[in-house]
Amino acid sequence: GGTTAKDELGNDVSVAKFLENRNAGDRNLVQGLKGDPTYIVVDSKEAIKDYGINAICTHLGCVVPWNVAENKFKCPCHGSQYDETGKVVRGPAPLSLPLAHTSVNDDKIVLTP
Ligand code: FES
Repeated sequence: GGTTAKDELGNDVSVAKFLENRNAGDRNLVQGLKGDPTYIVVDSKEAIKDYGINAICTHLGCVVPWNVAENKFKCPCHGSQYDETGKVVRGPAPLSLPLAHTSVNDDKIVLTP
């Protein structure tokens, strides 16, 4: 099961391609479950962590960018904030960002609910 992560052109995202395109210190957005934008997270050794973070704000659905300087996700619409694990730290968002389980299959990044 699971959904292969897609890039903005709808192509499957391989681990190599993902790491190649990634900006140091940033987190990359892919299209994940149900097409929702999802952040894939890597550790300091560039290994893909076993969870992805859904980028849709739980308030009213804006895409939430990662703020490198402040080390948190900050929603541009009404100011909700989430920590690096997607946990809500400031409202009005009522809930944390949902996580998806991340795995690698045949060099493709796969997300499962
Ligand atoms: Fe994100 Fe309102 S949509 S704070």
